Amino acid sequence: MEPKLKIENLHVVYDTKEGEVRAVDGLSLELNEKEVIGIAGETGSGKTTLALSILRILPTNGRIVGGKIYFDGEDLLSLPEEELLKIRQAKISLIIQQSGKALHPMFESGWQVAEAIYWHEDATPEELSRRVSKIFDNVWLGKENVFKFPEEMSMGMRQRALIALAISTNPELIIADEPFKGLDVIIQRQIIEILKGIKLKYKPTMLLMSHNINALGEIAHKLAIMYAGQIFEVAEKDEIFQNPKHPYTKGLIGAIPSLKRLKRRLISMPGNLPSMINPPKGCRFWPRCPYAKEICKREAPKAIKIGNSLVRCHFAEEVADISPWDFWG
Ligand SMILES: Nc1ncnc2c1ncn2[C@@H]1O[C@H](COP(=O)(O)OP(=O)(O)OP(=O)(O)O)[C@@H](O)[C@H]1O
Ligand SMILES: [Mg+2]
Repeated sequence: MEPKLKIENLHVVYDTKEGEVRAVDGLSLELNEKEVIGIAGETGSGKTTLALSILRILPTNGRIVGGKIYFDGEDLLSLPEEELLKIRQAKISLIIQQSGKALHPMFESGWQVAEAIYWHEDATPEELSRRVSKIFDNVWLGKENVFKFPEEMSMGMRQRALIALAISTNPELIIADEPFKGLDVIIQRQIIEILKGIKLKYKPTMLLMSHNINALGEIAHKLAIMYAGQIFEVAEKDEIFQNPKHPYTKGLIGAIPSLKRLKRRLISMPGNLPSMINPPKGCRFWPRCPYAKEICKREAPKAIKIGNSLVRCHFAEEVADISPWDFWG
């Protein structure tokens, strides 16, 4: 079966006074139809850049300089803009980061959802109203909020209205960028449950992006670990949590607070993301990696398959069995 979305060796840069920021730097990823993949990455790892690149809506200083993005076998990067207009929202929708600004302040939230539907298909006013009510129910907003303006809604309600907008046209692929960020834990829980509900009800292909790997793990079938503009590891979510193979993934999982390891509660991984203007040669992670050897500083590793995991590390086989809890010594 052909993957629904296939990203091949994608390179995206931003032009800045300091130089070219290589925000996405040789990223490859495949998503099968109806598969939900969570991309976990620290702040600055390039999640938003990836999301915006798929829809080709990068800010003006951003440029896609290499790679392919196939959607149903068709390269989105070589499509003319008018073809992309038919795909955005209708087939691929995006729940964008920073929900505060994403809804238009002058229109009722339900109106904005109705407009999104009407833009892509002829529907009678009655049908639109029925659909909007149903969509609002599916995101736990209820009909009583259809006529509310964004400023009359809480952060959590606006986030749900954004999800309503994203599912309104029954898209085949939904991308959600940091859907849980900035929300308190109770609202986060609601968003997790709503996204799980959408996965079951609409069965879309989904690409969720967050720094919160636990939240992603509750919804996704697979997890992809992103670092400095690249994907380091992709595997079934249980495999990532129980048997992480890349040294970076081991560090992340070993840092997750757990009851057995209360001592480690407040530890996060030492070091920072490398400069994206002058990223380290070879493997992007070597300056932070306890297992790095000479070759890691010279040569960028290719992704290799271990079991059903894809791992981008020269020593993936050698370090595969080291427990994440030993990562911290
Ligand atoms: N418009 C821009 N101009 C210049 N550099 C940018 C721009 N947008 C992002 N960057 C840089 O590109 C890199 C990737 O940023 P991006 O926003 O894609 O990461 P992210 O994973 O979404 O981070 P976050 O978790 O904070 O949302 C970072 O180094 C960031 O500083
Ligand atoms: Mg982002």
